[in-house]
Amino acid sequence: MSDSAPHIPRDKTFDSTYDLFQEGYDFIRNHCWQLGTDVFQTRIQLKPTICMMGREASLLFYDEQKFKRSGAAPKRVMKTLFGQQGVQGLDGQAHRHRKAMFMALMNEQSLEALLRITEASWLSAINDWQQHNKPVILKDAVADILTQSVCQWAGVPLEPDEIRHRSQQFLLMIEAAGQIGLPHWQGRQARRSMEKWCRQLIQQTRHGSLPVSDNTALFQIAHHRELDDSVLPEQIAAVELLNVLRPTVAITYYVVLTALALHQFPHEAQRLGDAESRYRFVQEVRRFYPFFPATMAQVRQTFEWQGYRFEEGHRVMLDLYGTNHDERLWQNPEQFWPDRFLDYKPDTFSLIPQGGGDYWQNHRCAGEWFTVSIMALMTKLLTTTIDYDVPGQNLLLAHNKMPAIPESGFIISQITLLATVTIAEA
Ligand code: HEM
Repeated sequence: MSDSAPHIPRDKTFDSTYDLFQEGYDFIRNHCWQLGTDVFQTRIQLKPTICMMGREASLLFYDEQKFKRSGAAPKRVMKTLFGQQGVQGLDGQAHRHRKAMFMALMNEQSLEALLRITEASWLSAINDWQQHNKPVILKDAVADILTQSVCQWAGVPLEPDEIRHRSQQFLLMIEAAGQIGLPHWQGRQARRSMEKWCRQLIQQTRHGSLPVSDNTALFQIAHHRELDDSVLPEQIAAVELLNVLRPTVAITYYVVLTALALHQFPHEAQRLGDAESRYRFVQEVRRFYPFFPATMAQVRQTFEWQGYRFEEGHRVMLDLYGTNHDERLWQNPEQFWPDRFLDYKPDTFSLIPQGGGDYWQNHRCAGEWFTVSIMALMTKLLTTTIDYDVPGQNLLLAHNKMPAIPESGFIISQITLLATVTIAEA
Protein backbone atom coordinates (compact mmCIF):
# COMPACT_ATOMS: atom_id res chain seq x y z
CA MET A 1 0.00 0.00 0.00
CA SER A 2 1.41 3.40 -0.95
CA ASP A 3 1.91 6.00 1.80
CA SER A 4 1.27 8.67 -0.79
CA ALA A 5 -2.36 7.57 -1.38
CA PRO A 6 -4.51 10.70 -1.31
CA HIS A 7 -6.71 11.14 1.69
CA ILE A 8 -10.43 10.86 1.20
CA PRO A 9 -11.97 14.32 0.58
CA ARG A 10 -12.74 15.90 3.92
CA ASP A 11 -15.81 17.87 4.92
CA LYS A 12 -14.85 21.40 6.04
CA THR A 13 -16.69 21.27 9.36
CA PHE A 14 -14.78 19.94 12.37
CA ASP A 15 -17.67 17.70 13.39
CA SER A 16 -20.82 17.04 11.30
CA THR A 17 -23.18 15.78 14.02
CA TYR A 18 -25.25 18.98 13.88
CA ASP A 19 -25.46 18.90 10.05
CA LEU A 20 -26.45 15.24 10.16
CA PHE A 21 -29.37 15.98 12.49
CA GLN A 22 -30.37 19.04 10.42
CA GLU A 23 -30.13 17.48 6.97
CA GLY A 24 -31.15 13.94 7.93
CA TYR A 25 -31.67 11.74 4.87
CA ASP A 26 -29.99 14.30 2.59
CA PHE A 27 -26.80 14.72 4.62
CA ILE A 28 -24.50 12.28 2.81
CA ARG A 29 -25.59 13.07 -0.75
CA ASN A 30 -25.60 16.85 -0.12
CA HIS A 31 -22.00 16.68 1.00
CA CYS A 32 -21.02 14.25 -1.78
CA TRP A 33 -22.44 16.71 -4.32
CA GLN A 34 -20.67 19.66 -2.70
CA LEU A 35 -17.33 17.84 -2.75
CA GLY A 36 -17.90 16.23 -6.16
CA THR A 37 -17.24 12.73 -4.81
CA ASP A 38 -18.93 9.47 -3.77
CA VAL A 39 -16.93 9.30 -0.57
CA PHE A 40 -15.88 11.85 2.04
CA GLN A 41 -14.51 11.94 5.55
CA THR A 42 -15.88 13.76 8.52
CA ARG A 43 -16.45 13.32 12.25
CA ILE A 44 -19.78 12.28 13.76
CA GLN A 45 -19.91 12.70 17.53
CA LEU A 46 -16.15 13.29 17.24
CA LYS A 47 -15.56 9.83 15.75
CA PRO A 48 -13.80 9.76 12.34
CA THR A 49 -16.46 8.66 9.86
CA ILE A 50 -16.29 7.90 6.14
CA CYS A 51 -19.57 8.52 4.30
CA MET A 52 -20.29 6.89 0.93
CA MET A 53 -23.03 6.52 -1.64
CA GLY A 54 -23.68 4.84 -4.99
CA ARG A 55 -23.37 1.36 -6.43
CA GLU A 56 -19.56 1.12 -6.30
CA ALA A 57 -19.61 2.21 -2.66
CA SER A 58 -22.34 -0.31 -1.92
CA LEU A 59 -20.28 -3.11 -3.52
CA LEU A 60 -17.29 -2.13 -1.40
CA PHE A 61 -19.30 -1.78 1.79
CA TYR A 62 -20.48 -5.39 1.66
CA ASP A 63 -16.92 -6.75 1.33
CA GLU A 64 -16.48 -8.57 4.64
CA GLN A 65 -12.71 -8.71 4.28
CA LYS A 66 -12.57 -4.93 4.49
CA PHE A 67 -15.28 -4.09 7.01
CA LYS A 68 -16.67 -5.49 10.23
CA ARG A 69 -19.84 -4.76 12.14
CA SER A 70 -18.79 -5.35 15.75
CA GLY A 71 -18.51 -2.00 17.50
CA ALA A 72 -19.78 -0.07 14.45
CA ALA A 73 -23.28 0.99 15.52
CA PRO A 74 -23.48 3.94 17.93
CA LYS A 75 -24.65 3.30 21.49
CA ARG A 76 -27.83 5.32 20.94
CA VAL A 77 -28.85 2.89 18.17
CA MET A 78 -27.91 -0.22 20.18
CA LYS A 79 -29.88 0.95 23.20
CA THR A 80 -33.04 1.62 21.22
CA LEU A 81 -33.40 0.11 17.77
CA PHE A 82 -31.03 -2.88 17.63
CA GLY A 83 -30.41 -4.06 21.18
CA GLN A 84 -27.02 -5.33 22.31
CA GLN A 85 -25.25 -8.51 21.15
CA GLY A 86 -27.78 -9.26 18.44
CA VAL A 87 -27.09 -10.42 14.88
CA GLN A 88 -26.41 -6.87 13.61
CA GLY A 89 -23.08 -6.68 15.46
CA LEU A 90 -21.72 -10.14 14.60
CA ASP A 91 -19.06 -10.95 12.01
CA GLY A 92 -17.79 -13.96 10.05
CA GLN A 93 -18.93 -17.45 10.94
CA ALA A 94 -20.76 -16.37 14.09
CA HIS A 95 -22.82 -13.98 11.97
CA ARG A 96 -23.58 -16.49 9.23
CA HIS A 97 -24.67 -19.07 11.78
CA ARG A 98 -27.01 -16.67 13.64
CA LYS A 99 -28.29 -15.23 10.36
CA ALA A 100 -29.21 -18.72 9.16
CA MET A 101 -31.60 -18.96 12.11
CA PHE A 102 -33.43 -15.84 10.87
CA MET A 103 -33.43 -16.93 7.25
CA ALA A 104 -34.90 -20.32 8.20
CA LEU A 105 -37.91 -18.48 9.64
CA MET A 106 -38.46 -16.60 6.39
CA ASN A 107 -39.79 -19.47 4.30
CA GLU A 108 -42.76 -19.47 1.94
CA GLN A 109 -45.08 -21.35 4.28
CA SER A 110 -44.48 -19.05 7.20
CA LEU A 111 -44.88 -16.00 4.95
CA GLU A 112 -48.26 -17.33 3.78
CA ALA A 113 -49.27 -17.81 7.42
CA LEU A 114 -48.29 -14.25 8.33
CA LEU A 115 -50.17 -12.84 5.32
CA ARG A 116 -53.30 -14.79 6.23
CA ILE A 117 -53.21 -13.59 9.84
CA THR A 118 -52.53 -9.98 8.78
CA GLU A 119 -55.41 -9.99 6.34
CA ALA A 120 -57.82 -11.36 8.96
CA SER A 121 -56.62 -8.76 11.43
CA TRP A 122 -57.13 -5.97 8.87
CA LEU A 123 -60.65 -7.16 8.02
CA SER A 124 -61.62 -7.20 11.67
CA ALA A 125 -60.14 -3.70 12.17
CA ILE A 126 -61.92 -2.13 9.21
CA ASN A 127 -65.24 -3.44 10.49
CA ASP A 128 -64.58 -1.63 13.79
CA TRP A 129 -63.56 1.55 11.95
CA GLN A 130 -66.76 1.60 9.97
CA GLN A 131 -68.94 0.94 13.00
CA HIS A 132 -67.32 3.71 15.05
CA ASN A 133 -67.45 6.09 12.12
CA LYS A 134 -64.54 8.19 13.41
CA PRO A 135 -61.35 9.28 11.63
CA VAL A 136 -58.54 6.75 11.96
CA ILE A 137 -54.84 7.49 12.40
CA LEU A 138 -53.42 4.93 10.01
CA LYS A 139 -50.04 4.75 11.74
CA ASP A 140 -51.52 3.68 15.10
CA ALA A 141 -54.14 1.42 13.55
CA VAL A 142 -51.66 -0.43 11.31
CA ALA A 143 -49.15 -0.72 14.16
CA ASP A 144 -51.88 -2.49 16.18
CA ILE A 145 -52.71 -4.79 13.27
CA LEU A 146 -49.07 -5.73 12.67
CA THR A 147 -48.31 -6.13 16.38
CA GLN A 148 -51.24 -8.48 16.85
CA SER A 149 -50.40 -10.36 13.63
CA VAL A 150 -46.68 -10.83 14.17
CA CYS A 151 -47.18 -11.90 17.79
CA GLN A 152 -49.75 -14.51 16.79
CA TRP A 153 -47.47 -15.68 13.96
CA ALA A 154 -44.39 -15.83 16.22
CA GLY A 155 -46.17 -17.79 19.00
CA VAL A 156 -46.12 -14.81 21.38
CA PRO A 157 -49.29 -14.61 23.50
CA LEU A 158 -50.90 -11.17 23.57
CA GLU A 159 -54.21 -10.24 25.21
CA PRO A 160 -56.43 -7.87 23.18
CA ASP A 161 -56.04 -5.15 25.83
CA GLU A 162 -52.23 -5.38 25.59
CA ILE A 163 -52.04 -4.70 21.86
CA ARG A 164 -52.04 -0.88 21.92
CA HIS A 165 -49.47 -0.74 24.75
CA ARG A 166 -47.06 -3.09 22.96
CA SER A 167 -47.54 -1.53 19.53
CA GLN A 168 -46.71 1.91 20.94
CA GLN A 169 -43.62 0.50 22.65
CA PHE A 170 -42.42 -0.88 19.30
CA LEU A 171 -42.91 2.52 17.67
CA LEU A 172 -41.07 4.29 20.50
CA MET A 173 -38.06 1.97 20.09
CA ILE A 174 -37.98 2.52 16.33
CA GLU A 175 -38.31 6.29 16.47
CA ALA A 176 -35.94 6.82 19.41
CA ALA A 177 -32.77 5.98 17.46
CA GLY A 178 -33.07 9.24 15.50
CA GLN A 179 -34.29 11.40 18.38
CA ILE A 180 -32.78 13.33 21.23
CA GLY A 181 -34.09 14.29 24.68
CA LEU A 182 -37.22 12.78 26.17
CA PRO A 183 -38.40 10.77 23.12
CA HIS A 184 -34.98 9.11 22.97
CA TRP A 185 -35.12 8.16 26.65
CA GLN A 186 -38.67 6.87 26.24
CA GLY A 187 -37.36 4.62 23.48
CA ARG A 188 -34.65 3.25 25.78
CA GLN A 189 -37.25 2.62 28.46
CA ALA A 190 -39.51 0.86 25.93
CA ARG A 191 -36.60 -1.41 24.93
CA ARG A 192 -35.84 -2.33 28.54
CA SER A 193 -39.48 -3.18 29.15
CA MET A 194 -39.78 -5.21 25.95
CA GLU A 195 -36.55 -7.11 26.59
CA LYS A 196 -37.85 -8.06 30.03
CA TRP A 197 -41.11 -9.28 28.46
CA CYS A 198 -39.22 -11.31 25.84
CA ARG A 199 -36.80 -12.80 28.40
CA GLN A 200 -39.80 -14.17 30.28
CA LEU A 201 -41.25 -15.61 27.07
CA ILE A 202 -37.94 -17.33 26.27
CA GLN A 203 -37.71 -18.71 29.81
CA GLN A 204 -41.28 -20.04 29.76
CA THR A 205 -40.76 -21.57 26.32
CA ARG A 206 -37.61 -23.35 27.44
CA HIS A 207 -39.26 -24.66 30.62
CA GLY A 208 -42.31 -25.80 28.66
CA SER A 209 -44.68 -23.70 30.79
CA LEU A 210 -45.77 -21.81 27.66
CA PRO A 211 -47.14 -24.15 25.00
CA VAL A 212 -45.48 -23.01 21.77
CA SER A 213 -45.56 -24.85 18.49
CA ASP A 214 -42.11 -25.81 17.22
CA ASN A 215 -42.37 -23.99 13.88
CA THR A 216 -42.76 -20.55 15.48
CA ALA A 217 -40.13 -17.83 15.78
CA LEU A 218 -40.41 -17.90 19.59
CA PHE A 219 -39.70 -21.65 19.74
CA GLN A 220 -36.89 -21.55 17.18
CA ILE A 221 -35.09 -18.65 18.86
CA ALA A 222 -35.54 -20.10 22.37
CA HIS A 223 -34.00 -23.42 21.25
CA HIS A 224 -31.44 -22.11 18.75
CA ARG A 225 -27.96 -23.60 19.23
CA GLU A 226 -24.84 -21.51 18.76
CA LEU A 227 -21.71 -22.85 17.02
CA ASP A 228 -20.52 -24.33 20.35
CA ASP A 229 -23.93 -26.05 20.74
CA SER A 230 -25.01 -23.83 23.63
CA VAL A 231 -28.42 -22.16 23.68
CA LEU A 232 -28.42 -18.36 23.52
CA PRO A 233 -28.24 -16.52 26.86
CA GLU A 234 -31.81 -15.43 27.74
CA GLN A 235 -30.99 -11.76 27.20
CA ILE A 236 -29.58 -12.32 23.70
CA ALA A 237 -32.49 -14.59 22.76
CA ALA A 238 -34.81 -11.76 23.87
CA VAL A 239 -32.93 -9.29 21.64
CA GLU A 240 -33.21 -11.70 18.68
CA LEU A 241 -36.94 -12.27 19.27
CA LEU A 242 -37.35 -8.50 19.20
CA ASN A 243 -35.30 -8.49 15.98
CA VAL A 244 -38.22 -10.35 14.38
CA LEU A 245 -41.16 -8.63 16.11
CA ARG A 246 -39.96 -4.99 15.98
CA PRO A 247 -39.09 -4.72 12.27
CA THR A 248 -42.34 -6.43 11.31
CA VAL A 249 -44.22 -3.73 13.21
CA ALA A 250 -41.91 -1.19 11.50
CA ILE A 251 -43.59 -2.10 8.20
CA THR A 252 -46.29 0.25 9.57
CA TYR A 253 -44.21 3.21 8.29
CA TYR A 254 -44.09 1.70 4.81
CA VAL A 255 -47.85 1.12 4.88
CA VAL A 256 -48.37 4.78 5.79
CA LEU A 257 -46.04 5.77 2.93
CA THR A 258 -47.99 3.45 0.61
CA ALA A 259 -51.23 5.22 1.59
CA LEU A 260 -49.49 8.55 1.04
CA ALA A 261 -48.35 7.45 -2.44
CA LEU A 262 -51.90 6.28 -3.30
CA HIS A 263 -53.09 9.76 -2.29
CA GLN A 264 -50.29 11.77 -3.92
CA PHE A 265 -50.21 9.81 -7.17
CA PRO A 266 -53.87 8.95 -7.91
CA HIS A 267 -53.14 8.12 -11.56
CA GLU A 268 -50.78 5.36 -10.34
CA ALA A 269 -53.35 4.21 -7.76
CA GLN A 270 -55.81 3.60 -10.64
CA ARG A 271 -53.43 1.08 -12.19
CA LEU A 272 -53.14 -1.46 -9.38
CA GLY A 273 -55.50 -4.16 -10.63
CA ASP A 274 -53.04 -7.07 -10.63
CA ALA A 275 -50.26 -8.51 -8.46
CA GLU A 276 -47.44 -7.37 -10.81
CA SER A 277 -48.51 -3.74 -10.83
CA ARG A 278 -48.86 -3.79 -7.04
CA TYR A 279 -45.36 -5.27 -6.80
CA ARG A 280 -43.90 -2.47 -8.95
CA PHE A 281 -45.78 0.12 -6.89
CA VAL A 282 -44.40 -1.28 -3.64
CA GLN A 283 -40.83 -1.39 -4.99
CA GLU A 284 -41.17 2.26 -6.00
CA VAL A 285 -42.51 3.20 -2.55
CA ARG A 286 -39.42 1.53 -1.02
CA ARG A 287 -37.09 3.29 -3.46
CA PHE A 288 -38.73 6.71 -3.49
CA TYR A 289 -39.57 7.47 0.14
CA PRO A 290 -36.98 7.72 2.91
CA PHE A 291 -36.97 5.14 5.69
CA PHE A 292 -33.69 3.61 6.93
CA PRO A 293 -31.14 6.35 6.09
CA ALA A 294 -27.77 4.58 6.23
CA THR A 295 -26.06 1.46 7.49
CA MET A 296 -22.73 1.36 9.33
CA ALA A 297 -19.57 -0.69 9.55
CA GLN A 298 -15.97 -0.26 10.68
CA VAL A 299 -12.76 -0.55 8.63
CA ARG A 300 -11.19 -3.89 9.59
CA GLN A 301 -7.66 -3.10 8.38
CA THR A 302 -6.25 -0.11 6.50
CA PHE A 303 -6.70 -0.53 2.71
CA GLU A 304 -6.85 1.52 -0.47
CA TRP A 305 -9.87 1.88 -2.74
CA GLN A 306 -9.91 3.94 -5.93
CA GLY A 307 -6.66 5.44 -4.70
CA TYR A 308 -8.12 6.51 -1.34
CA ARG A 309 -6.89 5.29 2.00
CA PHE A 310 -9.43 3.76 4.41
CA GLU A 311 -7.88 3.83 7.88
CA GLU A 312 -8.36 0.93 10.29
CA GLY A 313 -11.04 1.58 12.90
CA HIS A 314 -12.78 4.38 11.01
CA ARG A 315 -16.55 4.17 10.97
CA VAL A 316 -18.15 3.91 7.53
CA MET A 317 -21.71 4.92 6.65
CA LEU A 318 -23.35 3.75 3.43
CA ASP A 319 -26.14 6.07 2.26
CA LEU A 320 -29.16 3.85 1.50
CA TYR A 321 -31.57 6.66 0.64
CA GLY A 322 -28.99 8.51 -1.50
CA THR A 323 -28.15 5.34 -3.44
CA ASN A 324 -31.85 4.74 -4.11
CA HIS A 325 -31.93 8.27 -5.58
CA ASP A 326 -28.64 8.17 -7.47
CA GLU A 327 -29.27 9.50 -10.98
CA ARG A 328 -26.55 7.24 -12.39
CA LEU A 329 -28.72 4.28 -11.37
CA TRP A 330 -32.24 5.65 -11.64
CA GLN A 331 -33.72 7.70 -14.46
CA ASN A 332 -35.43 10.82 -13.01
CA PRO A 333 -34.90 9.56 -9.45
CA GLU A 334 -37.08 12.26 -7.89
CA GLN A 335 -40.09 11.12 -9.91
CA PHE A 336 -42.49 8.51 -8.47
CA TRP A 337 -42.64 6.09 -11.37
CA PRO A 338 -43.46 2.42 -10.59
CA ASP A 339 -43.11 1.44 -14.26
CA ARG A 340 -39.35 1.87 -13.95
CA PHE A 341 -39.50 -1.65 -12.50
CA LEU A 342 -41.04 -3.08 -15.70
CA ASP A 343 -37.62 -3.77 -17.19
CA TYR A 344 -35.52 -3.52 -14.04
CA LYS A 345 -32.77 -6.13 -13.81
CA PRO A 346 -32.57 -7.09 -10.11
CA ASP A 347 -29.31 -5.78 -8.68
CA THR A 348 -28.47 -6.33 -5.04
CA PHE A 349 -26.29 -3.21 -4.82
CA SER A 350 -28.51 -0.46 -6.25
CA LEU A 351 -32.02 -0.92 -4.81
CA ILE A 352 -30.97 -0.97 -1.17
CA PRO A 353 -33.69 0.40 1.15
CA GLN A 354 -33.08 -2.65 3.38
CA GLY A 355 -29.35 -3.05 2.77
CA GLY A 356 -27.50 -4.79 -0.06
CA GLY A 357 -25.48 -7.90 -0.85
CA ASP A 358 -26.46 -11.45 0.04
CA TYR A 359 -29.05 -12.37 2.68
CA TRP A 360 -27.11 -15.30 4.12
CA GLN A 361 -23.54 -13.99 3.87
CA ASN A 362 -24.00 -10.25 4.48
CA HIS A 363 -26.08 -8.12 6.81
CA ARG A 364 -28.81 -7.46 4.26
CA CYS A 365 -32.26 -7.34 5.91
CA ALA A 366 -33.53 -10.82 6.73
CA GLY A 367 -37.13 -9.66 6.40
CA GLU A 368 -37.06 -8.02 2.97
CA TRP A 369 -39.35 -10.59 1.28
CA PHE A 370 -41.76 -10.35 4.21
CA THR A 371 -41.73 -6.57 3.94
CA VAL A 372 -42.45 -6.54 0.20
CA SER A 373 -45.21 -9.16 0.56
CA ILE A 374 -46.93 -7.43 3.48
CA MET A 375 -46.74 -4.10 1.64
CA ALA A 376 -48.25 -5.69 -1.48
CA LEU A 377 -51.04 -7.19 0.61
CA MET A 378 -51.68 -3.86 2.33
CA THR A 379 -51.72 -2.07 -1.03
CA LYS A 380 -54.39 -4.47 -2.17
CA LEU A 381 -56.39 -4.14 1.06
CA LEU A 382 -56.20 -0.32 1.00
CA THR A 383 -57.43 -0.20 -2.58
CA THR A 384 -60.03 -2.96 -2.60
CA THR A 385 -61.57 -3.35 0.86
CA ILE A 386 -62.30 0.25 1.88
CA ASP A 387 -63.15 3.60 0.48
CA TYR A 388 -62.00 6.60 2.51
CA ASP A 389 -61.30 10.31 2.48
CA VAL A 390 -58.00 11.94 3.33
CA PRO A 391 -59.01 15.07 5.26
CA GLY A 392 -56.83 18.19 5.24
CA GLN A 393 -53.59 17.61 7.16
CA ASN A 394 -49.92 18.38 6.77
CA LEU A 395 -48.56 15.64 4.52
CA LEU A 396 -45.02 16.97 4.24
CA LEU A 397 -42.20 14.57 5.07
CA ALA A 398 -39.49 16.17 7.19
CA HIS A 399 -36.19 14.81 5.91
CA ASN A 400 -34.57 15.26 9.33
CA LYS A 401 -37.09 13.08 11.14
CA MET A 402 -36.58 9.33 11.10
CA PRO A 403 -38.60 7.46 10.02
CA ALA A 404 -40.14 10.19 7.87
CA ILE A 405 -43.92 10.01 7.72
CA PRO A 406 -46.49 12.83 7.99
CA GLU A 407 -46.66 14.26 11.52
CA SER A 408 -50.41 13.40 11.65
CA GLY A 409 -49.69 9.67 11.23
CA PHE A 410 -51.92 9.91 8.09
CA ILE A 411 -55.55 10.38 9.05
CA ILE A 412 -58.31 8.77 7.00
CA SER A 413 -62.05 9.41 7.48
CA GLN A 414 -65.50 8.54 6.05
CA ILE A 415 -64.45 4.91 5.86
CA THR A 416 -66.82 2.56 4.06
CA LEU A 417 -66.35 -1.13 3.37
CA LEU A 418 -66.12 -2.29 -0.22
CA ALA A 419 -65.49 -6.04 -0.32
CA THR A 420 -63.25 -8.73 1.11
CA VAL A 421 -60.40 -10.38 -0.76
CA THR A 422 -58.89 -13.83 -0.65
CA ILE A 423 -55.25 -14.27 0.22
CA ALA A 424 -54.48 -16.22 -2.97
CA GLU A 425 -55.06 -13.09 -5.02
CA ALA A 426 -52.77 -10.80 -2.97
C1 HEM B 1 -39.92 -2.01 7.76
C2 HEM B 1 -39.26 -2.59 6.87
C3 HEM B 1 -37.81 -2.87 7.09
C4 HEM B 1 -36.74 -2.07 6.84
C5 HEM B 1 -36.76 -0.65 6.28
C6 HEM B 1 -35.57 -2.81 7.20
C7 HEM B 1 -34.28 -2.35 7.04
C8 HEM B 1 -33.16 -3.05 7.39
C9 HEM B 1 -31.82 -2.60 7.19
C10 HEM B 1 -31.41 -1.30 6.51
C11 HEM B 1 -30.99 -3.54 7.70
C12 HEM B 1 -29.46 -3.47 7.80
C13 HEM B 1 -28.79 -3.84 6.51
C14 HEM B 1 -27.29 -3.72 6.63
O1 HEM B 1 -26.79 -3.28 7.67
O2 HEM B 1 -26.58 -4.08 5.71
C15 HEM B 1 -31.81 -4.60 8.25
C16 HEM B 1 -31.33 -5.70 8.88
C17 HEM B 1 -32.12 -6.65 9.46
N1 HEM B 1 -33.49 -6.77 9.35
FE1 HEM B 1 -34.73 -5.46 8.42
N2 HEM B 1 -35.94 -4.02 7.69
C18 HEM B 1 -37.30 -4.12 7.63
C19 HEM B 1 -38.09 -5.20 7.94
C20 HEM B 1 -37.62 -6.35 8.54
C21 HEM B 1 -38.43 -7.48 8.91
C22 HEM B 1 -39.91 -7.64 8.59
C23 HEM B 1 -37.60 -8.36 9.57
C24 HEM B 1 -37.89 -9.71 10.17
C25 HEM B 1 -39.06 -10.29 10.22
C26 HEM B 1 -36.28 -7.79 9.58
C27 HEM B 1 -35.17 -8.35 10.18
C28 HEM B 1 -33.89 -7.86 10.06
C29 HEM B 1 -32.73 -8.49 10.66
C30 HEM B 1 -32.73 -9.74 11.54
C31 HEM B 1 -31.63 -7.73 10.28
C32 HEM B 1 -30.17 -7.95 10.66
C33 HEM B 1 -29.50 -8.73 9.55
C34 HEM B 1 -28.03 -8.96 9.78
O3 HEM B 1 -27.42 -8.23 10.58
O4 HEM B 1 -27.48 -9.87 9.16
N3 HEM B 1 -36.33 -6.57 8.96
N4 HEM B 1 -33.13 -4.29 8.03
